[in-house]
Amino acid sequence: MDLNDAKTHNYELVPHKGFTLINGIHDPDDVDQIYNLEIRDSDVFVVTYPKSGTIWMQQIMLLLEAKGDMTAISSINNCCNDELIPWIELKGKRQAFITAPSPRLRVTHLQYHFMPPALSQKKGKVIYVARNPKDVLVSYFYFHKFANILETPKDFNDFFEKFLRGDVFGCSWFDHVKTWYSHKDDMNMLFITYEEMIQDLPSAVERISLFLGKELTDEQLANVVKHSTFNNMQKIPQANYEQIPDSMLNHHQGRFMRKGTIGDWKNHFTVAQKEKFDEVLYKEMKDFPLSFIWDFRDIE
Ligand code: A3P
Repeated sequence: MDLNDAKTHNYELVPHKGFTLINGIHDPDDVDQIYNLEIRDSDVFVVTYPKSGTIWMQQIMLLLEAKGDMTAISSINNCCNDELIPWIELKGKRQAFITAPSPRLRVTHLQYHFMPPALSQKKGKVIYVARNPKDVLVSYFYFHKFANILETPKDFNDFFEKFLRGDVFGCSWFDHVKTWYSHKDDMNMLFITYEEMIQDLPSAVERISLFLGKELTDEQLANVVKHSTFNNMQKIPQANYEQIPDSMLNHHQGRFMRKGTIGDWKNHFTVAQKEKFDEVLYKEMKDFPLSFIWDFRDIE
């Protein structure tokens, strides 16, 4: 199934093997079969918790493939980034993956245990993009308002509580990032944060390019950066998933390219919510071996 083909409005979260799937766009049997996929060395999976910069990474990878030539991507008419680098867990996408020519570039929100074990034997590559969970929460709140495939939140506080409980698609942000990170050294994995990309996009693009073994000239790399800035991506219909029908995304209610900043949570959290979030963050992440630039240990 293609996101474009989804006509049903009967979407709901269904628990599946310690994770949640969205009835209507995921098929549990299909998702289970992902584990058995044969992996090629040239395969690349972008792994994210929702709202962590998936489309941004899709855009960068497409541009790296096209050596910075935006017209090469735009000329693939009526395709949004999701069709060029599809979600492996969506209905029907697994079969296409099996026969697709290399390099097979895919994105996923799935937890580690659904993915083919070959990835943990250093076959293929994984790019994990992590984002400050407070900003993820805010971005996800707005996304719930605009995505008809997700329940419209009652209000911000109600969504805040659901997110902290992991009662959303993607489940617990904390479990997602901790589990994937714990397998970092078993895999060919680039672990990068949304904040690093915001703070220095040229360096981030260079790291991604190196990791993927791409050889681009400085000018080509500069073009990748230019066409993956928030301001430029805002103007690209395919990066905003404008081709997805209103039955799935209510385009009058919001956009994928919403704000694209660090720290928007400060405009939304009350003092009490910040304290509550920090308590959970500390409890969940105190033993995490990496400090983030938005770390609870030193910055707000
Ligand atoms: P906001 O809602 O905070 O603006 P995903 O693709 O995983 O759904 O993530 C969407 C989030 O990434 C949105 O965050 C979106 O604006 C942000 N984003 C996408 N492209 C971006 C870019 N080029 N620069 C900064 N943020 C970007």
